[in-house]
Amino acid sequence: MEGEQGGGQLYNVVQFVAHTHSIHLINSITQHPISSQISIFAAMKLNLDIAVPSKPEWLDAVMSDFNSFLQDHADCERKASSMAMSFVAKYPNRVEIIPELIDTAVEELQHFQQVYAMMEARGIQLEHSIGKDMYVVNLMNLCRHGREERFMDRLLLASVLETRGAERFRMIADAQEDAEYARFYKALWVSEAKHGHIFVKMALNYFDKTEVYKRLEFFIENEAEIISEIDIRAALH
Ligand SMILES: [Fe+2]
Ligand SMILES: [Fe+2]
Repeated sequence: MEGEQGGGQLYNVVQFVAHTHSIHLINSITQHPISSQISIFAAMKLNLDIAVPSKPEWLDAVMSDFNSFLQDHADCERKASSMAMSFVAKYPNRVEIIPELIDTAVEELQHFQQVYAMMEARGIQLEHSIGKDMYVVNLMNLCRHGREERFMDRLLLASVLETRGAERFRMIADAQEDAEYARFYKALWVSEAKHGHIFVKMALNYFDKTEVYKRLEFFIENEAEIISEIDIRAALH
């Protein structure tokens, strides 16, 4: 039922967006040749896979309350854009990665725009009060405090967040009955997987490879515990 309703609504989104010059076309992301994007990404992958898969119960919670999920998903995309730009603000001397950080922030903002357009078409608003995302809070608590250490940890944490996001968007894509929604979430999966790779590449610009992967393994191991312990809800985390 969700999928049938979503199809018509998504068509309306495309029509709405197509008439708004300032808005990125939602169907542009769904019409990219995703298979070629996946093969390019696979060849350049630097991030590590997550250690434990998401539970089927999480997917059930999302699919049975997709409107609530979209509210959280939109917020996560907006925060991902802010996170990329916060690196630019905090580390203006890291000129080697600033263009890619800006690209990432723009892509995340486009994701926010696309999810918000879906929400508008379904007649739902953004959440009025945004609670703490304990998954992110717990991961942030693992970051060290020295300037260099924190820089490295924040980059690797970003990679883990993106990699988990990619895994979950893939699950949602596979579960969608509506073809447009499935294509949209598949495209998001590819994009977030690419981001998971990019943040490790950024860390490798400044830190020793052995040190980077040792620390990345640390985050991957801890993320597995954190994701297993948080309450399941219709949200990205
Ligand atoms: Fe995104
Ligand atoms: Fe991302």
